[in-house]
Amino acid sequence: MKTLLAFSIPLLLISLVWSGYLEYDQDVLIPQDWTRVGRVDPTEELELTFALKQQNVHLLEEKLKLVSDPDSAQYGKHLTLEEVASLVHPSELTQKVVRHWLHSHGITNCLTIPYLFWRHLVAETLLPGSRFHRYVRDSHSIVRSSAPYSVHDDVHQHLDFVGGLHRLPPKGQDLSKKPQQHKAGLHLGVTPAVLRTRYNLTAADVGSTQNNSQAVAQFLEQYYHPADLAEFMNMFGRTFQHLSQVERVVGTQGAGKAGLEASLDVEYIMSTGANISTWVFTNPGRHESQEPFLQWMVLLSNMSDLPWVHTISYGDDEDSLSTAYMMRINTEFMKAGVRGISLLFASGDSGAGCKHMGKQQNSFRPSFPASSPYVTTVGGTSFKNPFKVTYEVTDYISGGGFSNVFGMPDYQASAVKGYLKTVEATLPPPSYFNTSGRAYPDMAALSDNYWVVSNRVPIPWVSGTSASTPVVGGMLSLINGQRLLKGLPTLGFLNPRLYKLKGQALFDVTEGCHLSCLDEQVQGKGFCAAPSWDPVTGWGTPNYPALLAALLAE
Ligand SMILES: *[C@@H]1O[C@H](CO)[C@@H](O)[C@H](O)[C@H]1NC(C)=O
Ligand SMILES: *[C@@H]1O[C@H](CO)[C@@H](O)[C@H](O)[C@H]1NC(C)=O
Ligand SMILES: *[C@@H]1O[C@H](CO)[C@@H](O)[C@H](O)[C@H]1NC(C)=O
Ligand SMILES: *[C@@H]1O[C@H](CO)[C@@H](O)[C@H](O)[C@H]1NC(C)=O
Ligand SMILES: *[C@@H]1O[C@H](CO)[C@@H](O)[C@H](O)[C@H]1NC(C)=O
Repeated sequence: MKTLLAFSIPLLLISLVWSGYLEYDQDVLIPQDWTRVGRVDPTEELELTFALKQQNVHLLEEKLKLVSDPDSAQYGKHLTLEEVASLVHPSELTQKVVRHWLHSHGITNCLTIPYLFWRHLVAETLLPGSRFHRYVRDSHSIVRSSAPYSVHDDVHQHLDFVGGLHRLPPKGQDLSKKPQQHKAGLHLGVTPAVLRTRYNLTAADVGSTQNNSQAVAQFLEQYYHPADLAEFMNMFGRTFQHLSQVERVVGTQGAGKAGLEASLDVEYIMSTGANISTWVFTNPGRHESQEPFLQWMVLLSNMSDLPWVHTISYGDDEDSLSTAYMMRINTEFMKAGVRGISLLFASGDSGAGCKHMGKQQNSFRPSFPASSPYVTTVGGTSFKNPFKVTYEVTDYISGGGFSNVFGMPDYQASAVKGYLKTVEATLPPPSYFNTSGRAYPDMAALSDNYWVVSNRVPIPWVSGTSASTPVVGGMLSLINGQRLLKGLPTLGFLNPRLYKLKGQALFDVTEGCHLSCLDEQVQGKGFCAAPSWDPVTGWGTPNYPALLAALLAE
């Protein structure tokens, strides 16, 4: 039995048990853009994921610190998937108790990762409190519980959470087409050539290593089209050696129109991470009940052969997710990090965000996984002069701020302290944010004014941190390639090393503020960029040759 179990179970089982909530702080409200169409038919299938409590999570965290800290003797001594699994696997007791619980509800086919489908639907009786309804949004249909679930006291301590009941996919996220007032003919959009110029990538800076690979993950019923990628490279890839095809798609590549986001991710990771084999992780699902992000995590913790760099543009408001869920996802991030895998998340496109806490009372609103201490979070910038390759300033949408759930990790404590001191006089009111939390982003790249080919049409003015994230991801992949050529381990979890550079090898972004609450107190302004690290653009944007040199040392 593996650490995450996924399967479906019969709906109509009767039992009355004493039970407790695993995710007491999970937001179970169904967002208004989903329409309830009715109760679920008991013959339908639904898939649940049971996250069994793992052992030695604190040892895993210690290990991650050691293998990611360039000053540790264990730096780069990554573990294999099997080694990670044997460190954290759930205890015999946990496995036995959960199995027994399921058996006693008539579920004998308890199966392991990746997932299994059953003919019947979920037992609302297995998870007292849950009530399943079908919801639709656009052409998308999903089954979720509108009420919190509980589990029997006997299994409570053996489970982190049950997936598949809550957490709806966020709306086609962030990516925006910003209105532009540029005069016709003067517009210069961001293309691979512009990025390669700005970040000092030469024609020789392309991948040349066998078995180095990178991945983008997409979960929003978004698909890239191979023809768009080919067309994009044909139009924009003339000045550098590149690949025009994705190596592997993991999941179900749906038909239909290409998504802007999906096109963007693939086109740009393959432009900076040029000539590097690229994978696309897409909706695993034939099955609508899955939480796509969770399913991706399940895949990560089950596949032994994986790309070294993953970029993901996905996020939820931190306050909408249960702590138990986020803690477990963090553990899964740690498991990737100790294996030498780098996870890069977009910081989001709502600046500091805004949460209405009641009459005239607002606070900023961090987003997760951007706020996870175990991933590298990427913010966004624009050119100072949008018509030229100049220095970069804050893109006002760039997500950033402080977690309200996760404490500040050691690796960033002095950088953040420095920032808070420098800008002390101009900080937003302290009631808006929590300086004891993990601060993000960690670095940034251009996020404004991209050209993307989607559905065979070149589209200008595409903006979002989902653009900057694959751009940085591709560059880290190039560096991984150079490290592999030298016989060095991959970069893995980058932050401890990144913060030790103290901004060396990055272009510091010092101008501009990002957006936040439109209220009297802050008037739409969140944090502002400043010399050195800041919670808008992190340490700044990559100067590739310098970053390569800095990260190529053992
Ligand atoms: C991955 O999942 C498969 C299918 O459930 C299982 O047989 C295999 O042992 C798992 N591998 C790892 C490394 O967890
Ligand atoms: C990199 O780019 C910057 C700005 O575009 C430039 O000033 C610098 O000389 C370039 N070269 C190196 C090796 O940093
Ligand atoms: C592209 O990558 C392959 C290995 O995957 C390598 O053989 C080839 O030389 C690379 N091209 C360039 C221009 O480095
Ligand atoms: C490494 O190379 C092998 C053999 O070519 C291939 O099967 C595997 O998928 C590659 N792994 C990655 C992560 O690219
Ligand atoms: C501030 O963040 C810490 C974690 O760093 C958390 O324990 C605390 O509850 C947060 N405070 C608020 C008001 O959210």
